[in-house]
Formats: sequence, structure tokens, C-alpha cells
Amino acid sequence: MSTQPDQSAADSNRDIPVKQIQWNKLTKAPILGIIGGGQLAQMMYQSAISLGIETHLFASVADEAAPKYFKDITRASSDQWTPPELYHFAQKCDVVTFDHELVPPTLVRELEKRGCLMLPNSNTLELSANKANQRIRLSELGLDVPEHQICSTESEVISFGNRVGWPLVIKPSTGGYDGKGVYIVSNQEDFSRIYPDIAPLSPLVIEPFLQIDAEGSVLAVRSGSGECKTYPMVRTIQVDGMCREVVSPSGFSPEILDQADNITLKIAQETNVVGVLAVEFFLSNGRLLVNELAPRPHNTGHLTIEANVTSQFENHLRAVLGLPLGETAMRVPAAAMVNVISGPPGKGTVPLLPAALSVPGASVHLYSKSAKKNRKIGHVTSTANTVEEALATARSAVEKLTELNPDELK
Ligand SMILES: Nc1ncnc2c1ncn2[C@@H]1O[C@H](COP(=O)(O)OP(=O)(O)OP(=O)(O)O)[C@@H](O)[C@H]1O
Ligand SMILES: [Mg+2]
Repeated sequence: MSTQPDQSAADSNRDIPVKQIQWNKLTKAPILGIIGGGQLAQMMYQSAISLGIETHLFASVADEAAPKYFKDITRASSDQWTPPELYHFAQKCDVVTFDHELVPPTLVRELEKRGCLMLPNSNTLELSANKANQRIRLSELGLDVPEHQICSTESEVISFGNRVGWPLVIKPSTGGYDGKGVYIVSNQEDFSRIYPDIAPLSPLVIEPFLQIDAEGSVLAVRSGSGECKTYPMVRTIQVDGMCREVVSPSGFSPEILDQADNITLKIAQETNVVGVLAVEFFLSNGRLLVNELAPRPHNTGHLTIEANVTSQFENHLRAVLGLPLGETAMRVPAAAMVNVISGPPGKGTVPLLPAALSVPGASVHLYSKSAKKNRKIGHVTSTANTVEEALATARSAVEKLTELNPDELK
């Protein structure tokens, strides 16, 4: 679905000037800045090359993947990013976007005050980087979210557990990704054992352990003028709190698809996001619940590279660069994406690449990351006439990439 420019929505963050690159005044292609050098930066860079856009990267000390490919890189001097070094970087760019949402919003706001165009803006980042704030905002918008309580003390959590019943799911408001910020506790003793470690990340979002029948996500892409399009909903399959597989079409009922699409459009407009916004949903006891948001290209949208008219990466760049958005419809009957999750540290996937590429119809994407237990180090997409066929191909290539490497046994 798509909506036309809506100036009132675009102006809703009134403290941040709504700016956009003025293409008719440019004499050369604008320079795109990306903060963070993970796989999303790597895949944005691939789209930037197609559009002929020069790209500068601001990489943290630990970033591994993307810095290998970029020509123009600013390296953070330490883990504590400072306004002067980020400002120095942002000044070289016409617009700056993000590989992840863990950049302190205060730093981003400081750059905005100095006239840098940061997209998504600091208000959107502030909301998305904090699960408690997200829940408050989503509830204010009248959307159905999982039953929860935002707690700041141990006793609040215990009384919530005693009221709704254990086990509980504990989510510190900041710092989580790939299920790493999600703790399941079976009883009060379990909770009290982990509480000292997670208390500094309070407030905590506390939920009952839900019966989740299915999970899915919808991506929206929205430009500064308010033009907004959504991608068809995908179904996601999680293992141990981490997304393992994504299929499209999702197979959900037309009512669910319609509801999820409308909710995503509403969130995109109300949060004034510019770029891609991912909305994660749970289907629980027949209800569609909004779990969380991410204002950036998302793991559940990687299959759009092969399966949709315009990939999420190209559309993210189009949006932040002030270009017309591309069509989001699927261009194949079905697609599947399977993540490559590494086992224990070892020599990694490189020697296994030829075997994976020998699987007909498998598109392999590797992130050039060292192997660590349960780390996403790549993904494989396949398109086919049915989801089952696509899934079988992608799984077969991933199996080859994660087979125990004989070199590691020596
Ligand atoms: N209340 C709950 N009951 C049961 N399972 C849950 C609950 N909350 C989360 N999960 C499971 O854990 C997964 C990860 O949760 P969530 O998306 O909130 O955390 P995350 O660490 O931000 O994950 P990611 O970065 O992968 O999106 C969910 O996709 C779901 O499978
Ligand atoms: Mg999630």
C-alpha cells in the first residue's frame, strides 16, 4: 500500500527542521554518510554504487564487515564517540544515515543543531533505541501490544509476575538485539538471580511468556515529504529469540495482512521516520500485536534484494536522499531467506563458499565477520514458485556454509 505526501505528518517533529536534499540545486551527486560498519552498511553501499552515490563511513573500533569495502572511512578513536569527531565526519556528507540504532540520540541531536541532515532524525532514534519508550508510544497510538509493565525495581517485577503468572519475559529497555536482550525467567528466584546484572539497563519491559502462534514483519519506506510505501508482510521463524528464516508471501489471512499494513503506515507517519521502518508483529491467540520497531533496513527485509522490485536498501537510500521511492511489490511468486549463524570460533565460512554456491538458485551473502557462537555472519536467499521450494534451496546452501569445516578439526 502507499500514501501520498502529507505535510502535516512531515512537520510533526517541529523542533527538527524538515530538510531534504534539493536535487535541482546540485552540481554533483550528493555524498551519503553511514554511521556504523555492519552488514547493513555493506548492503546499503552496494545500492549506493548502483545509484552512483559517493559514500563515507563512520566505523566504530569494533566494526568488521563494511570498513573493508569503503574507500572513505572515519574510524572512531574509542568506544565513546565524541561530538567533534562525529561532526567532522558529518560535515563531509550531504546526509547521514545509520547501520544500527544504537547511536546516542543526544549526539545525533547535537549534530542536527549544527545543521547536519541526520535521517532518521534524533527523535525517531530516541524512540526506537528504547523498548520502554516504544511501548508507551505504541500504546498512545491505540495499537495492540503484548501485555506488559514497565518496571524500575525488583519488587515491581515480582508483583507483576505474581499477578499474571510466571514465566516472565524480561527485556531491558536498551541494548538488546537478536534476542540478546530477552531473558526468560521461570520464577521469582530465577529473576532475582539475574536482576543485579540487568538492573543498570532499567527500566525493564516485563511481559508474560506468550503463546505465539506466528511472527511476521512489515517494512515501510517513507520519504521526507511524507510519501510512504509498505512492502508485503513476511513471515519470520525464530529460534531461541533470534530470527532464523523469513518467507514471502507470508500466508497470513487477508484481514491480518490488511491490519498489519495499516498499523505500519500509521506508525511510519506518526514517528515521522525517514527511510525504512521495520515493524515486528506477534500473532497470539488470534490477535495481532506490535512487538517492536526498527527505523532502518532490517534482517526480515534482506530477501527484497532478490524478491521485490526495489530492495529495502535502495529504497532506504532513495528516501534519505530525497529521491522518488521505488515499487515495493514482489517480482517473483515466492522467496525465502535463511540466516547463516556461526558456531564456535573457527576458520569460518570461506572454505565452504564453493560448496554453497554449487546449490542452484541460492544467492549467498556473507558479511565478512569472524565466527562467534550464535552470530549472524551471512544469509542466503532463494526465489521459486513456492515458499517450500525456495526454503529448501536456501536451507541447503546454509547447511553447506555451516558444515563443520574439516580444517578446524586438525
Ligand atoms: N513475551 C514473549 N513471549 C514469548 N516469546 C517472546 C516474547 N517476547 C519476545 N519473544 C520471542 O523473542 C524474540 C525476540 O524478542 P524481541 O524482538 O522483543 O527482542 P530483540 O532482542 O530486540 O530481538 P531482535 O533484535 O531479533 O528483533 C521474539 O521474536 C519472540 O520470538
Ligand atoms: Mg525483535
